[in-house]
Amino acid sequence: MINYHIRPEPDQKRLLLLDQRLLPVQEQYFACLKASDVMQAIRDMVVRGAPAIGVTAAWGCWLAAVQLEKEGLDKSRYWETLLTEALQKIAMSRPTAVNLAWAVSRMRKAWMDNMPLTLPRLIEVWRQEAENIHVEDIELNIRLGAHGAELLSDGDTVMTHCNAGSLATAGYGTALGVIYASLEAGKKIKVIANETRPLLQGSRLTAYELHKAGVEVKVACDNAAALLMHKGLVQKIVTGADRIALNGDTANKIGTYGLAVLAKHFGIPLYIAAPCSTFDWHCPTGKDIPIEERMSDEVTRLPYPGGQRLAPSGVEACNFAFDVTPAALISGFITEHGVFRPPYFKSFAKLRELAGEGAKD
Ligand code: MRU
Repeated sequence: MINYHIRPEPDQKRLLLLDQRLLPVQEQYFACLKASDVMQAIRDMVVRGAPAIGVTAAWGCWLAAVQLEKEGLDKSRYWETLLTEALQKIAMSRPTAVNLAWAVSRMRKAWMDNMPLTLPRLIEVWRQEAENIHVEDIELNIRLGAHGAELLSDGDTVMTHCNAGSLATAGYGTALGVIYASLEAGKKIKVIANETRPLLQGSRLTAYELHKAGVEVKVACDNAAALLMHKGLVQKIVTGADRIALNGDTANKIGTYGLAVLAKHFGIPLYIAAPCSTFDWHCPTGKDIPIEERMSDEVTRLPYPGGQRLAPSGVEACNFAFDVTPAALISGFITEHGVFRPPYFKSFAKLRELAGEGAKD
């Protein structure tokens, strides 16, 4: 399993990110020396996947503080204001995955809880907190995977969408963590990775990491899903999530909603695998989830590298990066605290307590 794609190098005061735009052809690192490098990496999808951008953002906060120290601003009266502004910008790098804001607010809390702090001391506190967020993400994915493995039967073929694997987290993965844990438990599981237009995270990243780990995986065009289900070639669907509302409505990569409708039609269970950091306890329903709209070029050109034109020049594309699957189409949520089933208003109250986020509103 890949757990070296987010590589902090505190002694060199930098963060290296495996450039996911170049996979599966090239394994090359993108170096972040400043918070703005981290924001660019998140926006341009050098690193992507909800938990992975959360972990990266935490290291980005640390880099923002390191940068102020390098510029000699620790003596200035304004360093706290500058840092607060930097944190706000980092949290806004991409809008849909709530893990990003979650990680930044955890970093902010580590600062506030230790007030007053000098800048050099804050850098130490934040290095430790970013490390904690990073390591915890891997640990909780392993726990989540073990809970999810209980839902898969020996011989199942699981369809997944986008990439919710090691590359989308600090390591191990959420949806793919369930696959890895099932295989570790001795079950024979095959995977169908939907290619996931427009940026092909399924074929470029999911197939890449599963194949590397020796898992039997086939890539399918997104529009083959109905036929594959109709032919009885899919027993379960497991995907990740970018933001889960209080009522269970779930934002994930564009196309997940369509899969959920098909799954309901064919009576195939669809599970969402996500850690508590993906639950937005302040978001009542899916209507309140901001959906990122990205550049036309991602649809009208082949994804990196090259970018050959696929549609006539001057033609624009609809490029919503995510959709929201209504809770009624979701069979259950696999989390680090176990599997949570409908009715979600009841089961999520329990989950919220376990997450230490007891209802405040
Ligand atoms: O646009 P991306 O590649 O960041 O979208 C990623 C997804 O939709 C994943 O399924 C989601 O973030 C869960 S990752 C564990």
